[in-house]
Amino acid sequence: MVDVILGLQWGDEGKGKIVDYFAPKYDIIARFQGGPNAGHTLYMNGNKIVLHQIPSGIFHQDKINIIGNGVVLDPVTLKRECDSVAKYGIDVKKNLFIAERTNLIVPTHRALDKASEKSKGDSKIGSTLKGIGPAYMDKTGRNALRVGDLADKTFTTQYIKLRLKHQKILDSFHFDEDISAWEEEFFEAVEFLRTLNIVNGEYFINNKISEGKKILAEGAQGSMLDVDFGTFPFVTSSNTISAGVCTGLGVPPRNIRDVLGVTKAYCTRVGGGPFPTELNDETGEELRNIGNEFGATTGRPRRCGWLDLIALKYSCMLNGVTQIVMTKADVLDTFQELKVCTAYNINGEEKHEVPFQMTRMNLQPVYTDFAGWKSNSSSIRHAANLPVEMSNYIKFIDAYIQAPVKFVSNGPGREQIICL
Ligand code: GDP
Ligand code: IMO
Ligand code: MG
Repeated sequence: MVDVILGLQWGDEGKGKIVDYFAPKYDIIARFQGGPNAGHTLYMNGNKIVLHQIPSGIFHQDKINIIGNGVVLDPVTLKRECDSVAKYGIDVKKNLFIAERTNLIVPTHRALDKASEKSKGDSKIGSTLKGIGPAYMDKTGRNALRVGDLADKTFTTQYIKLRLKHQKILDSFHFDEDISAWEEEFFEAVEFLRTLNIVNGEYFINNKISEGKKILAEGAQGSMLDVDFGTFPFVTSSNTISAGVCTGLGVPPRNIRDVLGVTKAYCTRVGGGPFPTELNDETGEELRNIGNEFGATTGRPRRCGWLDLIALKYSCMLNGVTQIVMTKADVLDTFQELKVCTAYNINGEEKHEVPFQMTRMNLQPVYTDFAGWKSNSSSIRHAANLPVEMSNYIKFIDAYIQAPVKFVSNGPGREQIICL
């Protein structure tokens, strides 16, 4: 049996915290897509930790964490992260497993990402520059190196072949940065990766399912960044929706049970692309400051705006969401008035669906207003103590998207969550 926790917006919904919170109920926590573009923040005894490649169940010593085949893996980031969790007494050789079909990010993928973004000028995607797009292109282009290839004595030859292929493209971009230092750390990290538990992920997971073990699949990014259904081309390069769990771990659809969708109580986006409810004013600034909305991977300020129920309902439909977790409700504590987008006005007509594209049209959000609760909610632990205005806000969202809001997170701490 597999449950899924994934983001319903443009990423950074607080998935890391929520996975860490639910991890005790599971035997295995598995990442199924994305790579070091992810930045999942957890707090361990008051210390902030940001995970990019390792699943967010790693601090639960008795749990297995697995990096699934749908992930793109940068050995350098992984090694760095393993070293940092080791400081908390976590021995990754015991509870971290990596699927051998996982595709590797090599240094030239990062160079290609950088060169490609630079060539796009103002229309750049705003990628995290971690090599995600080029690595997934090599997967679908059938050129990639995979973790299982590390066991082959031809690995270095294969690497050189791939590097030469990349060099031709880099030359066409006139990319002339010296990446020899990146290569040096890559090969060092590759040696380290060889010492970890490399398994046949699909048999590993399916055998565990047969034994009755419970698996929690951890999404990265968010549904609006999905390569098929997101705000293309301003998306990431993987399927971030629940369907990605099947291909990213090798589990059949019938084994997927609950899909917990995580949404902020408002909206953020980092990087380029359409964002209908974006607030380029002091209210947006206030959301950014109170919510500390700065990228966990790149440190970039996140764009902020009101909750978009058209996009949220769309995400729930695509994922088959069974329960909603609403995070960062406490960030709205001081607001006099709140708004949620309940329609898009497209060229003068009210629409309730996410259109094919949003950049070459006049799209304006239509809002429904709510009174704010104007009280400190961060220490509430029981649903009965929620301010009535917050309950109204949640009830409206619940009814609009037709998926139950079951949990409200009201602070970054592990204990700051209310079950409704
Ligand atoms: P992820 O990528 O979805 O795991 O999210 P990030 O870690 O990138 O960003 C979420 C940020 O919000 C982190 O700094 C978290 O510590 C923080 N956070 C998570 N839940 C809450 C919450 O309910 N309230 C507040 N104030 N912060 C939260
Ligand atoms: P988590 O898992 C927020 C965004 C980038 C860029 C676009 C493409 O922490 O929620 P990429 O590097 O994937 O080619 O970038 O996607 N992006 C994210 N935004 N959270 C993330 O991950 C993201 N991962 C990628 O900013 O706009
Ligand atoms: Mg993040």
